[in-house]
Amino acid sequence: MQILLNNCGAVDPGSLEDYLAHGGFEVFQKALAMSRPAIIEEVKASKIQGRGGAGFPTGIKWEAVYKEQADQKYVICNADESEIGTFKDRKLMEEDPFRLIETMLIAGYAVGATKGFVYIRGEYPLSIARITHAIKKSQAQGFLGENILGSGFSFDIEVRRGAGAYICGEETALMESIEGKRGEPRNKPPFPVTHGLFGKPTVINNVETFYNILPILRHGGAWYASLGVPGSTGHKLFSISGHVNRPGVYEVPFGVTLRTLLEDYAGGIKNGKQLQAVMVGGAAASYVTPDQLDVPLDYASYRNIGCTLGSGAIIVFDETVDMWEVTRRFAKFFKHESCGKCVPCRIGCDRQYTLVERIARGERQEGDYELLLEISQVMKDASICGLGQTASSPVLSAIKLFADQR
Ligand code: NAI
Ligand code: SF4
Repeated sequence: MQILLNNCGAVDPGSLEDYLAHGGFEVFQKALAMSRPAIIEEVKASKIQGRGGAGFPTGIKWEAVYKEQADQKYVICNADESEIGTFKDRKLMEEDPFRLIETMLIAGYAVGATKGFVYIRGEYPLSIARITHAIKKSQAQGFLGENILGSGFSFDIEVRRGAGAYICGEETALMESIEGKRGEPRNKPPFPVTHGLFGKPTVINNVETFYNILPILRHGGAWYASLGVPGSTGHKLFSISGHVNRPGVYEVPFGVTLRTLLEDYAGGIKNGKQLQAVMVGGAAASYVTPDQLDVPLDYASYRNIGCTLGSGAIIVFDETVDMWEVTRRFAKFFKHESCGKCVPCRIGCDRQYTLVERIARGERQEGDYELLLEISQVMKDASICGLGQTASSPVLSAIKLFADQR
C-alpha cells in the first residue's frame, strides 16, 4: 500500500484536471467543512512527526500556531532538500506537485494563515517549474487566492528558490533568506511557531510531512497511527543510493529493517560485493554496520544504537570503499557549508577538516583522534544550530569503526 507515492507516475504532474480526476482537492473540501481544532486533533491523533529529519510532532506545531493571536500568520514548505543522499522531496514535487498546494491550503486553513511560501533549492529546476505551474493553474481555477471555492477562506502561495546554501534549509536561516537577508540561523527559542517569518507565527514543515496530511485527513488520525510502529507512526520515504542494484525512492511503513529495504527493495549490493557500511539519515549521522541491518527503521530503535533516521537518506558503501575518504568528503562539505556565524562551528569545521584530511592521506599523527574528540565536544556544546552541533558525527563514527584502516 502506498499513501505518499500513490500519485507518482499515475497522475499527469502538469494537469490540474488529471489531479482532480484522481481525487485532488477532495480532502481540502472535506477540511473546509471541519472546524479548525478538529483538523488539528486529527493531525495530533495521527502522531505524525516531521519528516525533514528532526521528527518534531506536526500536530503540536500546528496547534501552537493556531493558538497564537496575530494579524498575520504564515505557512512555509521547506523544500530546500540539501541533505546529502536525500532526494525524496524532489520526486514528490516533480511527480505530484498539486498535492503540495492542497496540503499547504489545509495547513493555512487549520492555523488561520493567509500566505504561504515554498522554498525550493535552486538545484531543483524541474521541481521549481512544476510547483510554479501548479500554483498558477490553482490560482486560475480558484483553488488559490481570495475566497477560495466561496468558503470565505483566502490563501496564496509564492515560490522562493534557494541559491545553493545548505544552511538555508535550516528553518530560521530559510526565513531570513525569504526576508531578503543573509541566510544565517537565528537563536532558538523563540521557535517559529511564535516568532517565525517576519516575526509572525509560522508553520514550517518539510515537503514529505505535508504530503502525509492527505491520508491522515482522508482516513482519520487513528487509522494513520495504526500504521508503522508505536512511537514512529505512518509511512516513510527513503532515498537509497550508492552500491545497490536498484537505487531510488522507496515508501515503507516505519519498522521495516534496513536489510529488507536493501535486499527486497533496492535489489541487494551491486556486483556481488560485501556490504561495508551504510550512511543512514544524512551526512551528520553515524555509520550503520552490517551487524545492525536487522534493527527496525524507527526513531527509537535508531536512537538506541546511537544513529538517526534523519531525512531518510541511505547511502550504501561496499567493501571496496575507503571510509576515511568518504569521511574526508563529509568533513569538507561541512567546512564549506558552515555559514560562519558562530565561532565553534566556523573554526571547528575547519580544524576538523584539516585533521581528517591528514588522516585520510595516511599521515595521521599522534594525538589526532584525541584532538578531533575535543573539537567535536566544543562544536556540540557551543554551536548555534544543528549543522555545527552534528558536523562531527561521521568523524566520531569513523574513529570508532575504521581506526584500524589508518
Ligand atoms: P529542531 O529539533 O531544532 O526542530 C525541529 C522542528 O521542531 C523545528 O521546526 C522547530 O521549530 C520545532 N520545534 C522544536 N522544539 C519546539 C518547541 N519547543 N516548540 C515549538 N516548535 C519546536 O531541529 P532542526 O534544526 O530544525 O532540524 C534538524 C534536522 O534537520 C536534523 O535531524 C537533520 O537530519 C535535518 N536536516 C534535513 C535536511 C534535509 O534536506 N531534509 C538538511 C539538513 C538537515
Ligand atoms: Fe552557522 Fe555553523 Fe553556527 Fe549554524 S552552527 S549558525 S551553520 S556557524
